[in-house]
Amino acid sequence: MKYAMAVSGLIMVGYLVVHMYGNLKAFVSPDAFNEYAHHLRTIGEPMLPHEGLLWVVRVVLLASVLVHAYCAITLWRRNKKAAGYSGGKRYHSKQNRTGIQRSYASFTMRWGGVTIALFIVFHILNLTTNDIHPGGASDEPFTKLHNSFQYFWVLLAYTVAMIAVGFHLWHGFWSALTTLGQNRSSTRIASRATPVSIGLAAIITLGFLAPPFSIYFFGLGG
Ligand code: HEM
Repeated sequence: MKYAMAVSGLIMVGYLVVHMYGNLKAFVSPDAFNEYAHHLRTIGEPMLPHEGLLWVVRVVLLASVLVHAYCAITLWRRNKKAAGYSGGKRYHSKQNRTGIQRSYASFTMRWGGVTIALFIVFHILNLTTNDIHPGGASDEPFTKLHNSFQYFWVLLAYTVAMIAVGFHLWHGFWSALTTLGQNRSSTRIASRATPVSIGLAAIITLGFLAPPFSIYFFGLGG
């Protein structure tokens, strides 16, 4: 189950890196952003039907989310049972100074995961289907983005969600590396996986937040 969590998590990290990079096209121009979104739908044609590869990606992502959540809940229940329902003794805390590792990120995993799941539903209704369309509905990807980020509450909702994503990745990437045998240190602080995970989490969080903040504060895209 830990392997399944690590592999499904890494698939989603791969998606996030590509998605974040794609969003940065907003800095090139609104047309570049729209063209990129259009390209996502035509890539693979004529061998694949219109939106063919996009649907493959959607199915893989959905499967990854389901596997990830199912394993998380099952492992959490098993851990609770194994620890006699007394809480996480395995982790380093004030009460348990010999625990192997603990960070703010590591004990926000469950609620962070729930926050991200709720965000994804809101996000798809907002920017893919455009059912939630503050500032006006549109068929153009950049216009949807631009209209939404005229509103402070939208900016705030995305900021909270991206911070949750950052924390989740910080511990989640570390945990995946450990599960897959790439962490040879017994403590979190000494582990080389720690700066790698924090770096990745910071790049993804800041990369995602750059276009919305630039639209709201500096009028990116007009
Ligand atoms: C500030 C952060 C983000 C912005 C501005 C953003 C922007 C967008 C936009 C504009 C679309 C629509 C693309 C299109 O229809 O052409 C989209 C789709 C999507 N985004 Fe994001 N995104 C952000 C963060 C995230 C995060 C963190 C996740 C995952 C945890 C995510 C998952 C998705 C998914 C699953 C879709 C739907 C893809 C599809 O099936 O068409 N996004 N995003």
